[in-house]
Amino acid sequence: MKRINEIYVIGNNEDLLSSIQSQLSQEYKLQMLEIDEIKKFSVQIVLMLRTDEMSPLDTAQTVLSLYPKAHLIYISDIPNFELLRDLNRMGIMEYLVLPDEDWLLGDRIREIAELKLANHEQSSTVEGFKRGGGKVFTFYSGKGGAGKSLLSTAFAQTLKVESTAKVLFIDLNLQYGSAETFLGIDSNRTIIDLYPVIQELNEHHIRNVAEKEPHSGLDILVSPRDAELAERIDEEFILRLIRASKRSYDFIIIDVPTWIDERVYTTLEESEKIYYVMSYDTIAIRVLKSVEELFQQLGIVMNEKMELIINYSGKDNELNQKDLERFIGYPIAARVRRDLKGVQSFVNQGVPLRKEQKDKKLPPVARDVQKWVRSMLK
Ligand SMILES: Nc1ncnc2c1ncn2[C@@H]1O[C@H](COP(=O)(O)OP(=O)(O)OP(=O)(O)O)[C@@H](O)[C@H]1O
Ligand SMILES: [Mg+2]
Repeated sequence: MKRINEIYVIGNNEDLLSSIQSQLSQEYKLQMLEIDEIKKFSVQIVLMLRTDEMSPLDTAQTVLSLYPKAHLIYISDIPNFELLRDLNRMGIMEYLVLPDEDWLLGDRIREIAELKLANHEQSSTVEGFKRGGGKVFTFYSGKGGAGKSLLSTAFAQTLKVESTAKVLFIDLNLQYGSAETFLGIDSNRTIIDLYPVIQELNEHHIRNVAEKEPHSGLDILVSPRDAELAERIDEEFILRLIRASKRSYDFIIIDVPTWIDERVYTTLEESEKIYYVMSYDTIAIRVLKSVEELFQQLGIVMNEKMELIINYSGKDNELNQKDLERFIGYPIAARVRRDLKGVQSFVNQGVPLRKEQKDKKLPPVARDVQKWVRSMLK
């Protein structure tokens, strides 16, 4: 019978390594890997060894986002129940403590290798976002008032309503806020409440601080709306927040301000997609060109992850799609119509554009966002 022979090992821990070598090297080819080079291989079974330098949650996150079907086993020399629970949440059920469980290792690997092989041909499309591979989509524009906040909130809300995915909205307009206006949220708890626990941030903390939009159940991390508090949030805070969110949610939608600082930079770096919001006019194109220059200087690689959202679309637009395509190469993910009256009445009443799946008669903006979200989920 054909079988899987290659097993990849991540994490420098000499003792654990020699221990697994003595168990497995007769039957399998053990290949040591640095996490940065994992893209170059096609991995199916990965052993993560405990080290002081590396969080297994981050490692697992990276592996699963590239290989959603990979089978991960965490091997440690110390038991850690909290970590076990966090790994379980990501769908990693295998946690072995050596040397006590030495004897289990060989059997488990054999089972997995056979199982993997049996499932090899069966592909599943949803698995990718089911297992800890949270996707971060950030809404950005170099131009104020482009519609980032309106569209990011409507997008998050629609995604929550139209799927079973776990969705988190993070409002990084730390000084002024945005979500409370567009989602009609009144909150005392804000992102800053995560400050004391940021070093060990987990799903539980995030859920405790997040507000739930009552109609859809969307989780929202609200902005502190306070310049002084905002100052305390630095790029390391942002990095930890995003990494922890990825472990617990399927989609993380982030609204950022126009002004680029280290925090916005970090957010863009961590994003799987940047939805750049703009309208069909020459000023918007000029601003996008300056943004490109700035990104280039900062070393933000965005070619593969930028998609355009055309907002305020309508008959009286200065330019059209052909004009735009002459100047700009990014794909257009969605077009959203201008609907001043419709949007205003929702915002004034303090209710979200989209509430539940059975909403009757959606206003044009909500309908356009629905079309976009549905095409993305396909
Ligand atoms: N398609 C649209 N139709 C009608 N009104 C819209 C549309 N898009 C945005 N608006 C309105 O335009 C205003 C600016 O939108 P929004 O606050 O989302 O922009 P922004 O890019 O987040 O701005 P800022 O740079 O200030 O954060 C809001 O009042 C919003 O309701
Ligand atoms: Mg905004």
